[in-house]
This record gives sequence, structure tokens and C-alpha cells, in this order.
Amino acid sequence: MGKMRTQSAPWRAAAVLASVLLVGGVAACGNSDTGGGGTTDDGKITMGFSQVGAESGWRTANTTSIKEAAAAAGIELKFDDAQQKQENQIKAIRNYIQQKVDVIAFSPVVESGWDTVLKEAKDADIPVILTDRSVDSADKSLYKTFLGSDFVKEGRLAGEWLVEQKKTASGPVNIVELQGNTGAAPANDRKKGFGEAIAANPNLKIIASQPGDFTRAGGKQVMEQFLKANKKIDVLFAHNDDMGLGALEAINAAGKVPGKDITIITVDAVKDGMQALADGKFNFIAECSPLLGPQLMDLAKKVHAGEEVPPRIETEETTFTTEQAKEALPNRKY
Ligand code: AHR
Repeated sequence: MGKMRTQSAPWRAAAVLASVLLVGGVAACGNSDTGGGGTTDDGKITMGFSQVGAESGWRTANTTSIKEAAAAAGIELKFDDAQQKQENQIKAIRNYIQQKVDVIAFSPVVESGWDTVLKEAKDADIPVILTDRSVDSADKSLYKTFLGSDFVKEGRLAGEWLVEQKKTASGPVNIVELQGNTGAAPANDRKKGFGEAIAANPNLKIIASQPGDFTRAGGKQVMEQFLKANKKIDVLFAHNDDMGLGALEAINAAGKVPGKDITIITVDAVKDGMQALADGKFNFIAECSPLLGPQLMDLAKKVHAGEEVPPRIETEETTFTTEQAKEALPNRKY
């Protein structure tokens, strides 16, 4: 300590110069001359990824896909779990901007409220890729592309299947709906698509609709309330498998037979959901694929190289009945 206090002026000047060079060098690591970013010392692209959380089997599979694909593509991944909170995502994105990552990718927990932080990324010349869920920003220049499912279509496919099943119903068909977390794109869009499809048959009525936050616990708790408040429930539409799986517990506890007394339609097609469908506890699933990692890494390389990418890339998906689930289950990876 004493020695430091007695440094000579030339020595101090040299130390200051060295630290300036060091800071400059570190800062330069994050950016190169390739337009939207740079590479680390070892030539790797660095991606900052903000994940929604770990709320469902789908999300776990999505996180695995992203981590594995980053490793396979040689992309250095900085990963943050936002625990379903928008403020955590905004904080993570700001950290990535400060760290001067090359690309930022995230799956927005809700649709609204992103303009300010997206503008900050744009001003820092860091390209942003939206994955899984989109945002409702009017300014599309705030992000490079959106890779993910058509959630309205998923809801519509679920509704169309129900319309077909109930085409001979002579009286009211009472439907309860378990929504995803409030404000999330898949919650808004699946509700919309399903509602539009069932409008084809005036007998089909949604008698109760509440958020279960895409979790098993949420699905169970809200289904218990639905069962208490409504004597006649014919159909459950759950916005994901996990809420449907939670609801099974509530339905069993109420002495009803899932898949028979109550027709159950869900979205995702993760293994546990597919098992429930194969066992006849669920009746129909609209698929939503979580395997977005390889396409995301591909896009990251392209935007980093300054290449044009399409503004919207839609995931390919299908639907499953019980028979189809039985067939697909042995090869289901997640
Ligand atoms: O955004 C995709 C949705 O989020 C999945 O359907 C759901 O399981 C997840 O939590």
C-alpha cells in the first residue's frame, strides 16, 4: 500500500495508459467491423439470450435446444432465466448491451412494453432476434426477425377439431379455457384462434376462462375453481400441455373421467402431454415445436454477417389425435 502511495509521476502515467489500452481492447472484443457486432478474441460470436423462465416441459425442451445448438454452432451463449418477469428480461438485455455481445435473442414473456430497450439495442448496433414469442412494437426495424410458431393457427386448429367432433351436438357444449400468462403472445393468440373457430357452431360456448400461467400448478388450481363453480363442463381447452396435466389432477379429484366426461384439448405435444393423449386422458393436441435452437443459431450467424433474413420465419407444426400420439411417442425427443 505504502509503495503505491509513493509512485513516481512517470510510473503513474504509464499505468494509466496501460489501463486505457486494456479497457479499449476489451471493448473492441465485442464489436468488429461487420456492421452489427463483432467476435470475441477467439473468433466466436457471442449471443445474449433471455429466456422466459422454466414454467413448462416445452420451455425446458426449448432451453436445451438453444444451449445444444449454440455449442454445436460454436456460438458463445450468455443465458438468463427471467422467471416469467418482464423486468428481469429488460435487465438481462441491458446487461447484454453493456457487455457488447454480438447478437441478442429473447423470447418475450409478454407482447407489450419493449420499445425502449429494443431502441437501446439498436442504438448500440446490436441486432436482436425474437424467438418463440413476438412483440407488438409498431417499429419493425427494432428487431431483425421473428422465429416461432403461428399461435393463432394453433388455437384455430384446436377449435376446428372441436367443431368437427361436436357437429351433431343438439344442446349447449360448455367449454372452460385455461389461458397462458396474461399478456403473452401465445395466450392472446391461441384464445383468438380458438374463439374464431368455435364461432362456427353457436352451441359451443366458453363459460369460463382464466390464466393458469402455463404451469401445472396453475392448471390444477384454476381447474379446481372451474369445477366448483360449474356443474356441467363438457370441454377443457388448455393453452399448453402442462396446464392440461395439472387439470387432470383436479378432474380426477372431482370424480370425473378425463378424456371421457370432459374432452381435453391442449397445445404443445411434449412427451407427458403425448402420453396423456395416447392414454386417452387428453383428446387432441395442436403441436408447438420448442426445437428452435438450430434455426436460431443459423440466423444469428447471418445477421452478424450483415446478411438479409426474412422478417418472419414460421415453425412447421402438426396436430395429434390419440392414435397419432401412440405412433409418434416412441420417437418423441422431448
Ligand atoms: O411460448 C410458447 C409457450 O410457452 C408454450 O406453449 C408453453 O408451454 C410455454 O410455456
